[in-house]
Amino acid sequence: MKIGKLKHRLYQKFFRRAGTQPALTPQSVREFKETVWQSPEAASRYSEAVSRISPGMQTELDVALGFARGRILDVGAGTGRFSSSLVRAGLPVTAIDLSADMLRLASASDHAPDCARASAFALPFADEQFDSVISFWLLLHFHEWPRILSEMLRVAKPEARVIFEMQNASNLEHACRITGDDRLVPKNLSGFQTFLKFEEVESVTTRLGAGIVWSRHYDLFSDNLIARATLGERYTGWLDEIQSALDDEDCRRFWIRFEAEHLPHLPEYLARKYLVVLGKENREPDHKQPAKGDEFPTHLVASTPAIARSMRLFLEAFAPACPQLSDLFKLECAKTL
Ligand SMILES: C[S@@+](CC[C@H](N)C(=O)[O-])C[C@H]1O[C@@H](n2cnc3c(N)ncnc32)[C@H](O)[C@@H]1O
Repeated sequence: MKIGKLKHRLYQKFFRRAGTQPALTPQSVREFKETVWQSPEAASRYSEAVSRISPGMQTELDVALGFARGRILDVGAGTGRFSSSLVRAGLPVTAIDLSADMLRLASASDHAPDCARASAFALPFADEQFDSVISFWLLLHFHEWPRILSEMLRVAKPEARVIFEMQNASNLEHACRITGDDRLVPKNLSGFQTFLKFEEVESVTTRLGAGIVWSRHYDLFSDNLIARATLGERYTGWLDEIQSALDDEDCRRFWIRFEAEHLPHLPEYLARKYLVVLGKENREPDHKQPAKGDEFPTHLVASTPAIARSMRLFLEAFAPACPQLSDLFKLECAKTL
């Protein structure tokens, strides 16, 4: 059973218990999400779901590895895919999660972090303990994400970096303009997700006393809402095709480099998400930066069928929303000469 089906089944259970459709409030969202993640099948399903590494996932990992340093806390660590990469890089990591099953999988890794079962809303640590605090794919599940961010900042040392990602509201808004309706993301408990404009995150961050020291829009292919809106019923087949092209490692590296190089100069609505690195008190830019796939040998563009196929698929989904992509496509192909 896929994560979506699992969510739906649990939603039915919630629905029966409440006797009526539960209202979408910060409390009901939190109760529902926390129940779903602690259900018996969630950990193994999730582990399976993240086994296929997309360019977006690789970018997140590169950013965590590029910016995290010293003693690290991973909040909502899940199966520990970020924690274990950081441990493998020689860094001491503490992973917290609400789900004991998730933590069991995280502990079983060859590069296991120290694990503790805890809520992100009440971290069981004194103030200013960690040099870096990371959290991926957690904040977007909650209305009350600023409460989690506030906890992450509380346990971070003054010099610390706090790293997370958020879903891009511009991606959703533009997609809704294409389809003419706003039903791309279900407005019920099981479909609830937070989408925010970058400025909204910036203003919450400032209110919490921190500053953004680095950010990047990214992620063209993980259920990108522009692609979904443009392609309509063809979207599912398109997604299968693009995912199979992205199983090719050179193709994945090509798109990591493409996103890092081109997305900053393209309309921000194209990106599904953005990454944010906060400085608590230290707002100096870091010298260490995430890998950009710079070393990608350009001749592979021509000789890798998966890349050529993925570029055609990319244009099919995105060029109607952003005509300048066709020129970019020609530019990328010219590099292959
Ligand atoms: C989408 S997974 C992300 C896991 C991991 N960060 C990753 O990117 O693979 C969300 C995780 O948050 C955990 N979680 C949900 N609510 C939580 C809460 N209130 N406190 C701590 N962890 C929570 C879930 O158990 C789950 O492991």
